[in-house]
Amino acid sequence: MDLARIRERFPLLGRFVYLNHSAIGPLSIAVREAVGEALEAQAEGSVGYPVWRDRIAPLKERIARLIGASPAEIALVRNTVEGLSTVASGVLWREGDNVVTNDMEFPANIYPWMNLEVRYGVNTRLVKTHDGKVAVDDIIAACDERTRLVTVSFVQFSNGYRADVESLGAFCRERGIYFCVDAIQGLGVLRLRVDRTPIDFLASGAHKWLLAPLGIGFLYVRQALQPELWPCEVGHLSVQQNTENYTDYALNFRPSAEKYEGGVHNYPGAFGFHESLKLFEEVGMDCIEERVLMLTDQLCDGLRSGGYRLLSHRSPAEKSGTVSFRSDTHSSEDVFVRLKEAKIITSLREGAIRVAPHFYNTPEEIERFLAALPSHRC
Ligand SMILES: Cc1ncc(COP(=O)(O)O)c(C=O)c1O
Repeated sequence: MDLARIRERFPLLGRFVYLNHSAIGPLSIAVREAVGEALEAQAEGSVGYPVWRDRIAPLKERIARLIGASPAEIALVRNTVEGLSTVASGVLWREGDNVVTNDMEFPANIYPWMNLEVRYGVNTRLVKTHDGKVAVDDIIAACDERTRLVTVSFVQFSNGYRADVESLGAFCRERGIYFCVDAIQGLGVLRLRVDRTPIDFLASGAHKWLLAPLGIGFLYVRQALQPELWPCEVGHLSVQQNTENYTDYALNFRPSAEKYEGGVHNYPGAFGFHESLKLFEEVGMDCIEERVLMLTDQLCDGLRSGGYRLLSHRSPAEKSGTVSFRSDTHSSEDVFVRLKEAKIITSLREGAIRVAPHFYNTPEEIERFLAALPSHRC
């Protein structure tokens, strides 16, 4: 990997130490150009139609390769919420069913389920978490014979806790419970393959670690479940439409996840996402994961020896690209501002500083970050 070359593709990296990929991923020059290509195609009106239409299938192939799915299991959506809501509105609920999740999820993975209470009498159980961990045993203990779906974030937004999706998925599969994953904080950093992990539904926006534009993402729906997950946002692209005669109506759903896509796509977003995925294939997810974990290990060692309190768990099974921490003497706001003044970009979340480097960040940048922190020595 020629890191210097890769860094040149992201002009922002020359101006900031950018450690905020759990908020927004920066765009490479190539991604911006790809977005422009979609707009130029539409500048040609219907003459440009084949250009934008023909990019959708290759995009789905790349997404499918990233997560070990088949392209027929991928629907394009605007964002994570739309993906999760497609699941929430598509399950054929019975009154008295419940959904099990936990009390540290990002709200994107709470409200689609809470919203089922009034309309369908489906209760959402928020398992109490302890010490910033989503404990498998606590999730299992909250499930009963009326549990229809368990949902967790692959990686938690606040402290980067990586859920044990293998064990949760295995439990759900055995019990006939749907297992749904909000993957936005893990994809693009950690490897996750749905052909090796019992996941039924997975949703992710592409604007964080996947380094793609805002407003594009995808939903994975396991092939075997597509007949029972009802499409609720239905339009001309959901069905096998007779395009010779649009008023020849027939509600024949397409035999793939396309049935969850109602109308036209966000083509600029899709073009950008297609381009950004090329980088992940070029570098390779093994290499990306290894580098991000190496950088975050370095970060955590430095934070500990600087007297900061880590809120992230760093065992091999629990760690991710996101690290959060606090100081017992300096307020998180002060630390955040101090870093920003030094052109080091992080986030403030839940009263802590959240740091999220990507594979193209360098050990020198991590050292700069550590050196910019207020000291604990008097
Ligand atoms: C875990 C998690 N899910 C979802 C989102 C965002 O959801 P959406 O893509 O719908 O904006 C975020 C952050 O913004 C997040 O941290």
